[in-house]
Amino acid sequence: MAKRIITTDITEEDSRLEPGLRPQTLDEYIGQEKTKNTLRIFIEAARQRKDILDHVLFYGPPGLGKTTLAGIIANEMDVNIKITSGPAIEKPGEMAAVLNNLQEGDVLFVDEIHRLNHQVEEVLYPAMEDFAIDIMIGKGSAARSIRLDLPKFTLVGATTRAGLLTAPLRDRFGVVQHLDFYTEKELQTIITRSAAVLGVQIDARGALEIARRSRGTPRLANRMLKRVRDYAQVRYQGDITSAIAGEALDLLEVDKYGLDLVDRKILKTVIVKFGGGPVGLDTLAASIGEDSGTIVDVYEPYLIKKGFMNRTPKGRMATDMAYEHLGLERKTKKD
Ligand code: ADE
Repeated sequence: MAKRIITTDITEEDSRLEPGLRPQTLDEYIGQEKTKNTLRIFIEAARQRKDILDHVLFYGPPGLGKTTLAGIIANEMDVNIKITSGPAIEKPGEMAAVLNNLQEGDVLFVDEIHRLNHQVEEVLYPAMEDFAIDIMIGKGSAARSIRLDLPKFTLVGATTRAGLLTAPLRDRFGVVQHLDFYTEKELQTIITRSAAVLGVQIDARGALEIARRSRGTPRLANRMLKRVRDYAQVRYQGDITSAIAGEALDLLEVDKYGLDLVDRKILKTVIVKFGGGPVGLDTLAASIGEDSGTIVDVYEPYLIKKGFMNRTPKGRMATDMAYEHLGLERKTKKD
């Protein structure tokens, strides 16, 4: 599949530039007010007691700031952060080593925590609950387990799908926060702030035009800002207005709702091939050549949020808005 500007995966350019654009404190962080208020209270309480913060789980679509918030937690608690991810840790021994290398109070950030394998996950249970790991030594009838104490730490887990977490793991998080898409106004503020960091001139309407098309996601807003900056630099004098932002994003085939070619292909497939639906997830995934997990994590949340698609027990359905947006007519009556 072609490289999309609106992929929410972290690109090489993101990992170079994102750290500079990332807020360091809760006060600098724009949006997610409920989560910020919750974290403020627990961070302050832990600091007052000179204790660690309870384990925190963030869930929600990619690109909304889960890693950024983990960094802010470490910063506000004045501790180090170690970053890893579910697929990166393959064996229980590797998890034990990561835990054993933590210092008192550290934040351990585990991205895509739903992808930890079962044996690795089991190492986390006593670690989260009792700050200890159980190590098996010896073999056969001589095998026994010894308990190794760990420094107290805060696990910050992130997942795009809380539903895939096992109950024993989910239950061990004291704070569970859902991150939702950002409003246009919040994204406009983020874009204005990022433009200042990048040293680009952008007016309020220019920032709003990018905000509108960045599907509620700061990672995409910042990436689009960089592409629009390039366009403004080459075609114009460098400053970004709403007209220039619009032109640049049209060129990238991101429409005014932030939908790109893949989103439109999904909607068109539901409508043209499946008569508007309902169509099962796997059937839909196969007909557009996408992974069904990616549809659930990345594409569908925004299409549903914006009212282009519905998820019903029988499958996915295109809404009237989808027909209208693509300029297609309904052939049969809805049931
Ligand atoms: N950059 C990316 N996400 C941000 C946010 N939520 N607040 C401020 N700057 C950001």
